[in-house]
Amino acid sequence: MPSSNTFKIITIDGGAAVGKSSTSKGLAERLELMHVDTGSHYRTLTCAILGSGADAEQSETVSKILEAIKLSTQIDGRTARLGINEVVPADSDLRSPEVNAQVSKFAAIPEVRKKLFAYQRSLADLAREQQYAGLIMEGRDIGSIIFPEAAYRFFLDADEATRAARRAKEGQTDSIAARDKMDRTRLAAPLVCPKGATLINTADHTLEEVIGKITHLIGS
Ligand code: DC
Repeated sequence: MPSSNTFKIITIDGGAAVGKSSTSKGLAERLELMHVDTGSHYRTLTCAILGSGADAEQSETVSKILEAIKLSTQIDGRTARLGINEVVPADSDLRSPEVNAQVSKFAAIPEVRKKLFAYQRSLADLAREQQYAGLIMEGRDIGSIIFPEAAYRFFLDADEATRAARRAKEGQTDSIAARDKMDRTRLAAPLVCPKGATLINTADHTLEEVIGKITHLIGS
């Protein structure tokens, strides 16, 4: 079992389609880490709220729906997935065009972020309990708000054309530029390169190179 002083917390932030998920999953495999995709947390809450018939403008209704939601976790290989009342939504529901179009609006609501803050931090304890060598968490505010104290914080970026081509290859309808604009300009936990984080341009490297570079930088 890894001792607590060797347990690593690695944060990976960046805009849509910069390569956060492939990089995080690859590092989780290589370094025996638990992987958490916090974008899927916002997608899960978005699905639940839309499924209850509310939209992001109905703040009181959204708060009531959030109060009734019980968060749970399902571990699937190296990935910890968020469930609501023990049910983890299908990936196809989390990545539907409707959720792609709405998720940034819900992610800008402070109550939505508050609902996830302690839960996301608690996943480090879960990873320790489950005897992973560390936790790798990807998102928009992980190195700035969720784990600002983490020893290893990275911010991935890539030009818009590269990112659009990646989404098209995945067959997804996604307004990357519009989502990034909302994520960067919102008041609550905006998308920023955290102070002191290492910036990596993924358009200049293959996935293996990015994984190799990060592995080297964290000294594993
Ligand atoms: O990584 P993704 O595209 O699945 O994320 C979906 C949305 O969730 C993204 O547009 C912004 C929001 N998000 C966030 O606000 N904070 C995070 N830590 C992760 C995602």
